[in-house]
Amino acid sequence: MEVTNRYVVIKHNIDGAPLESDFELRTEALSLWIEPGKYDVIVKNLYLSVDPYQLNRMKSPGCFQQDMNFAGAICPGQKINGDGIGRVVASGNPEFKEGDLVSWYCMSWGEYSIIKMSPSNMEGAKLRKIEMMEFPLSYHVALLSLSGITAYAGFFEVCKPKKREKLFVSGASGSVGSLVGQYAKLFGCYVVGCAGSQRKVDLLKEKLGFDEAFNYKEETDLKSALKRYFPDGIDIYFDNVGGEMLEAAIENMNPFGRVAVCGAISEYTDKGRRGAPNMVNVVYKRITIQGFLAADHYKKVYKDFLSTTLEHLQGGKLHVLEDMSHGVESIPSAFAGLFRGDNVGKKMVELLADD
Ligand SMILES: NC(=O)c1ccc[n+]([C@@H]2O[C@H](COP(=O)([O-])OP(=O)(O)OC[C@H]3O[C@@H](n4cnc5c(N)ncnc54)[C@H](OP(=O)(O)O)[C@@H]3O)[C@@H](O)[C@H]2O)c1
Repeated sequence: MEVTNRYVVIKHNIDGAPLESDFELRTEALSLWIEPGKYDVIVKNLYLSVDPYQLNRMKSPGCFQQDMNFAGAICPGQKINGDGIGRVVASGNPEFKEGDLVSWYCMSWGEYSIIKMSPSNMEGAKLRKIEMMEFPLSYHVALLSLSGITAYAGFFEVCKPKKREKLFVSGASGSVGSLVGQYAKLFGCYVVGCAGSQRKVDLLKEKLGFDEAFNYKEETDLKSALKRYFPDGIDIYFDNVGGEMLEAAIENMNPFGRVAVCGAISEYTDKGRRGAPNMVNVVYKRITIQGFLAADHYKKVYKDFLSTTLEHLQGGKLHVLEDMSHGVESIPSAFAGLFRGDNVGKKMVELLADD
């Protein structure tokens, strides 16, 4: 059997903020037949996760990618892989059969993914069967996958919180940030978040239960804004954005404060822009600044992460924010929108219907 597969590629390397016009939709005829003896799996894509880090893979060679050994460069015209969920439609691998629901990082930015596998091929190891179906399938794209693990491991393992400590999180209405704030509140911290619109600020306070929130785009002086929200200083800063917000947070940290550097989205679109925190402050206040990747903590925290998260979900205490676009042609605008602040919560694209 043959199907038509539509997929998205970059036309050229992208070094600034991505635009819809940087991408191209291509079409190919795809055979669902797998040669005997091959371990390949073909997946019909249902949901695609849209993630800021992908921009760093799209940059010109030499910008960032040398340190991104967990995810290689994306070249113009080449298929783009990412996180997502799909249903197996053909398989030469005895571990996966037609009809299985699968997820992980080897899905394509398109309608079908061809996952090359052999007993020794690492790509296959990235494919995971989804068996727990108590919640909507889309929860497996973010909450029960990368965003959830990032938020949980970043907060508990890197921030090492104590109850009643004061936590600041940037990018607070986004996929990771909205979960960090909620885990921190449920744990017993005082939580303030910042986001890029009044609508997002209202959501943080009224729906997610943050103690305070503010629109950073309306602040002319971020250092004094943080002083206003933290008159007694910040104990923990969960950083999703880098840049000036990192500088302002360091200025307001308490002695022995911890900064978990999860991401630096404000720097992804401008290679000349770098946060330059006052390092003398870091020394005298004995502040720990730690970058981390969710993958480093996955094995250690997964069991706890899952049981805590499911308990909060079942108790109605955790709100899941999802922001869905529809169809393969919406992938470029969904991705570009991340860097304009269009999304509220996890940005994903619903691809083919699961019939
Ligand atoms: N370390 C890890 O393992 C790991 C894993 C996943 C994600 N991350 C990182 O975590 C961060 C959040 O990722 P996510 O998936 O949850 O994305 P997200 O927050 O759901 O979406 C991106 C958000 O970033 C904000 N933003 C965009 N440009 C900005 C700028 N110049 N300055 C400040 N904020 C800006 C926008 O919200 P506003 O309207 O508030 O501006 C936008 O909605 C990213 O930096 C990402 O790379 C790290």
